[in-house]
Amino acid sequence: MKERVFSGMRPTGKLHLGHLAGALTNWVRMQDDYECFYCIVDWHALMSDYADVSRVRSNCREVLLDWLASGLDPERSTIFIQSHVPEHAELHLALSMITPLGWLERCPTYKDQILNLKNKDLGNYAFLGYPVLMAGDIVLYKAHKVPVGEDQSAHLEITREIVRRFNNFFGEVFPEPDILLTPFPKVPGTDGRKMSKSYDNSLNISDTTEVIWEKLRTMMTDPARERRSDPGDPEKCPVWDLHKVFTSDAVCREELAQGCRTAGIGCIDCKKVLRDNVNTLLDPIRERRHHYENHGDEVMDILAEGAKKARLVAAATMNEVKQAMGLVL
Ligand code: TRP
Repeated sequence: MKERVFSGMRPTGKLHLGHLAGALTNWVRMQDDYECFYCIVDWHALMSDYADVSRVRSNCREVLLDWLASGLDPERSTIFIQSHVPEHAELHLALSMITPLGWLERCPTYKDQILNLKNKDLGNYAFLGYPVLMAGDIVLYKAHKVPVGEDQSAHLEITREIVRRFNNFFGEVFPEPDILLTPFPKVPGTDGRKMSKSYDNSLNISDTTEVIWEKLRTMMTDPARERRSDPGDPEKCPVWDLHKVFTSDAVCREELAQGCRTAGIGCIDCKKVLRDNVNTLLDPIRERRHHYENHGDEVMDILAEGAKKARLVAAATMNEVKQAMGLVL
């Protein structure tokens, strides 16, 4: 019996190379060794974006296309949308009975977002319970492993605490899931800051060759290297950080670094090598995305099949939960 993996992403729209290198490549690899559940968590998106829901549907579609294009395989993994499996909402309610308010109020991501996202009113009841819904997502499938980035570790800790408390009250229903910290490579965007949709500095998985080149061509480099004849310092150049992730040939990388330090090559030469390597990575992904973009019926079938497979497991777990909580006649 393979161990179970669960992970989720909020439907934020088109995914970028940070998602690919930081999460998806790893998720694709895990399909060989685990029974994987990959979920687009649309209810989680509503918890903070309830005031404008106009993009939820199209964002879910873009995320799904990027997932399938990147190699998440519906034949091997269960790929689905959270709201299509009503047991997520039901388990969220059940777990909310035993979750102390203090755990949620003290959660660092909650405090941080209340302070920093001033343009959204996050004083709603649901947003405080974000980690409870997330705990429900994971334990609904009794997942053993949860591959996520460091930013989710506080949520995983709350999940484990909720599991312990639930099992204490009602008997051993859930296994305590382990976090599988994804080694997140540094992937800067075109302005040198962390690649992020909100900074508008992303290289998207779905970008064409031309768009990728336009973004790379105008991307910032070591600011001290003003002229072609000035030597540069790779460690001060975000293009170099991208080479570290996307140029796998170490000899080639060393030549580029040497060429930069000695002004032997220009920034455009260096960027062309990066462009070619990114395109080699993205070409098969583009081809698969193109296929699914033109076969909407196949995509709908994948979602229906995913929800069906997920519900089979989810319904069994909910039966156990209700039994344990004294709800079954
Ligand atoms: N909170 C996660 C994020 O923002 C998304 C998420 C929701 C998730 N439910 C999950 C991740 C369950 C892993 C497991 O990235």
